Amino acid sequence: MPEENVHDTSVAAPKINGQAYPFTDHVYDVVVVGAGGAGLRATFGMAEKGLKTACISKVYPTRSHTVAAQGGISASLGNMGEDDWRWHMYDTVKGSDWLGDQDAIEYMVREAVPAIIELEHYGVPFSRTEAGKIYQRPFGGMTTHFGKGIAQRTCAAADRTGHAILHTLYQQALKHQAQFFVEYFAVDLIMDDEGNCVGVVAWNLDDGTMHRFNAKMVVLATGGYGRAYFSCTSAHTCTGDGNAMALRAGLPLQDMEFIQFHPSGIYGAGCLITEGVRGEGGYLTNSAGERFMERYAPSAKDLASRDVVSRSMTMEIREGRGVGPLKDHIHLHIEHLDPKVIHERLPGIAETARIFAGVDVTREPIPVLPTCHYNMGGVPTNYRAEVVTLKNGNPDSVVQGLMAIGEAACVSVHGANRLGSNSLLDLVVFGRAAALRCAEILNPEESARSLPKGAGDYAVSRLDKARHAKGEIPTAALRLEMQKVMQSNCAVFRTGEILQEGCDHLRRIWAKRDQIKVEDRSMIWNSDLVETLELDNLLYQASVTIESARNRQESRGAHAREDFAERDDQKWMKHSVAWADESGKVKIDYRPVHLQPLTNDVQSFPPKARVY
Ligand code: FUM
Repeated sequence: MPEENVHDTSVAAPKINGQAYPFTDHVYDVVVVGAGGAGLRATFGMAEKGLKTACISKVYPTRSHTVAAQGGISASLGNMGEDDWRWHMYDTVKGSDWLGDQDAIEYMVREAVPAIIELEHYGVPFSRTEAGKIYQRPFGGMTTHFGKGIAQRTCAAADRTGHAILHTLYQQALKHQAQFFVEYFAVDLIMDDEGNCVGVVAWNLDDGTMHRFNAKMVVLATGGYGRAYFSCTSAHTCTGDGNAMALRAGLPLQDMEFIQFHPSGIYGAGCLITEGVRGEGGYLTNSAGERFMERYAPSAKDLASRDVVSRSMTMEIREGRGVGPLKDHIHLHIEHLDPKVIHERLPGIAETARIFAGVDVTREPIPVLPTCHYNMGGVPTNYRAEVVTLKNGNPDSVVQGLMAIGEAACVSVHGANRLGSNSLLDLVVFGRAAALRCAEILNPEESARSLPKGAGDYAVSRLDKARHAKGEIPTAALRLEMQKVMQSNCAVFRTGEILQEGCDHLRRIWAKRDQIKVEDRSMIWNSDLVETLELDNLLYQASVTIESARNRQESRGAHAREDFAERDDQKWMKHSVAWADESGKVKIDYRPVHLQPLTNDVQSFPPKARVY
């Protein structure tokens, strides 16, 4: 633990195991929770601006899930053919099925170009063209001339782009001397009586101590909650802790029903096989060896947007044209590619396919299945990364002292469906936007709002309750039950009946939280206790996800209702906003989509039929 900034206090000492348990208190200008791409970009951006900045992470920063991002990061550099940020904007709005906020989308795609140049200057080892420029590959839904041609817009470092970016950003954060609190588990936000965020409580996993961070700004960069599903491409740590902290602080989450299923998770293992494979010329086939995407998306084919490809694969399987003995998956081919291309551009997936599917990609197809990959929903923010809520009927009212970025946030640039390679972009653009905004509104000379009486007691009481859970259900068993419900009842295709069944089942699981058993009482490296807190976080998010999905009676982007097969702009072009209370009860409201771009340099893209 870093020594400076630390002083002990017994104010409001909570009790753990009947003993007073003092907090270690810290005071910072900014505390960033999470050290993935967004968290690190924000952290060093804040430090660079002279703000005293801490970053709390439950894993070593370079183990954050951004490390697993493969295919690349989008920007209209035009290195491999003509490109324009307006085309990128159009693709993103269309990809979002017109649920994305066009002001935020304009901001993101315009900032994309300088953001990539900045990453290059920081030292990201991008792959190169013959001419020495950053290499760019095609990705799903990325076009030129507003849908007419295929764009090569996704900047890649082979198929390990996230790894390259995360390591570079961590180096920058170390260079700017931000303070890291590594292997600290953030438990809950500290809010004052006026509803402002004034800090966060964290548990040091290494020595069992509890910490209160008082800050002028807390930035949630805690990633997605893929682990609410049985099969996902996300790391075990992707439990959306920040989203659940926001819900417990009485704040809503937005558009949680929109869950992205990536077309190519390895069958059975769930590991990601990048869309870059199809960008490099790979294609999907069914049991008849047919390139079926030609039927579903005659123009873009295998490079249609992810929701379209995942639905098409699911339909092929449902109609009996899946491959394998159970006809329950699809083949992804790259055997026809020049081995040099595989070696240079796709070395990581060749290794992953060998290890997790036992496949030599130069000879055989990879067995794949749509797999939970990304959460379009999250903590609602404006394009400056400030958290917004529906206070007093104002859909854009800002919560003082709180920001959210990356997958934890819903800006909303992805709307109902994210385009591949817009996620790494979102991380760096809005991580930087958070730093710029903090530099504008925070004064290092002023003190932070003081902590209210009893600050942190709620977090400690939750932790203590979990620690003494003496029921008979192991945490892992209840987690599995929840994951199976989400996988069966809130997947690629949905109906009102199936969603209602899922809601009812989740209520029963919620009731079983009181029967959990945690055997290890230790405060030091107690993974059982960590997983119990994480399960609680997942359950909050699973509940708002499935209830928001049941409420939305239309099909849009990744939310495909068989009982409401059409998009309904009249009734449903609006963001779902959902709160959950301690009993798991969910309340849902709606806020308008921002259809106006940020500037007059581009016109709003009005909704139209979405075909690829
Ligand atoms: O397929 C991929 O490489 C994933 C990229 C993304 O989710 O943006």
